[in-house]
Amino acid sequence: MNSITRDIRYIGVNDHEIDLFEGMYVVPNGMAYNSYVILDEKTAVMDTTDRHFVDAWLDNLAAALDGRKPDYLVVHHMEPDHSAGIEAFVKKYPEAQVVATAKAFTMMKNFTGLDLTARGITAKEGDTLPLGAHTLHFITAPMVHWPEVMMSYDAADKALFSADAFGKFGALDAVDEEGWACEARRYYFGIVGKYGAQVQAVLKKAAALDIQIICPLHGPVLQEDLGYYLDLYNTWSSYGTETEGVAVFYTSVYGHTKAAAELLAEKLKELGCPKVAVSDLARDDMAEAVEDAFRYGKIVLATTTYNADIFPFMREFIEHLTERGYQNRKIGLIENGSWAPTAAKVMKGMLEGCKNTTFAETEVKILSAMTEENKAQIEQLAKEML
Ligand code: FEO
Repeated sequence: MNSITRDIRYIGVNDHEIDLFEGMYVVPNGMAYNSYVILDEKTAVMDTTDRHFVDAWLDNLAAALDGRKPDYLVVHHMEPDHSAGIEAFVKKYPEAQVVATAKAFTMMKNFTGLDLTARGITAKEGDTLPLGAHTLHFITAPMVHWPEVMMSYDAADKALFSADAFGKFGALDAVDEEGWACEARRYYFGIVGKYGAQVQAVLKKAAALDIQIICPLHGPVLQEDLGYYLDLYNTWSSYGTETEGVAVFYTSVYGHTKAAAELLAEKLKELGCPKVAVSDLARDDMAEAVEDAFRYGKIVLATTTYNADIFPFMREFIEHLTERGYQNRKIGLIENGSWAPTAAKVMKGMLEGCKNTTFAETEVKILSAMTEENKAQIEQLAKEML
């Protein structure tokens, strides 16, 4: 059994069977559903697991308890990837108390039909749960990622149990060649991105704590260089620019719009743009494209007119951005249309409600294939985006 500290044990599971996380996200390296137990005078279990792994998780728990009984099950988040083991747990350990927010108890009843309030402790902001040497301090974290979410801080080991925050895609036994940020960023903007203000509120509470260990519900336990992770979360949740450069997103039917996007990328590189990312929205992972749009401070959108609107993948992409509160950006537009181009107007209309966002003056209008004039416009747009 994994020891995080002398008294905190890891009892989570790895999932290599899953096809789509939350029914939407590809997870080529699988997924981890983390759970922990604190062994003190009292024992506290921190969250459960996904429905496919309840038996394995109960085995991990029993092994960590080594004959002891659990006193508490602390439920930080009711989404089923962490809460599907609650029912089996309360049946196996009828004397254990369940600790959760009032909203979480309501959700437990809605998910399982069980009213656990009679054997529960309702946690509120600032409440504590003494275990012996360890005392859990509860921090409510509404909308990070659901409204019932709370986190726990254990001052003895300086450990923050952060629920979904600081999580990432990927099983813990998979090799992560890209480093933590890549899949953590895709996870953050896909799943929590809309709730930047709520993440900022929790980061402010966390700033008052001496945190040496972050125990999230997904991804690795973080024990070193915590400033790196906290800084990234601050940038992401404040919709700041993480990486200087330009991200170019395109859709293309016969390759002409793609050629324009690629020419723009080439010109940007020639002009010394520090980083240029290019995504084909029909073929690349949409969640990767979304994280790139939030990663860079400047983006260019290139698409065709389609049914007097825009190509469907571009429409879907822009909707992913706007529903996540896209803001603080500079946007360039390239449209294509063989008889009645309307794409730039449609894209601008979809994005004009984004806070603190400006559009490049140069708008490239292609009437099927690029002309020499279009090429000059693209060079001009590249200069403007630097
Ligand atoms: Fe990992 Fe919001 O559940």
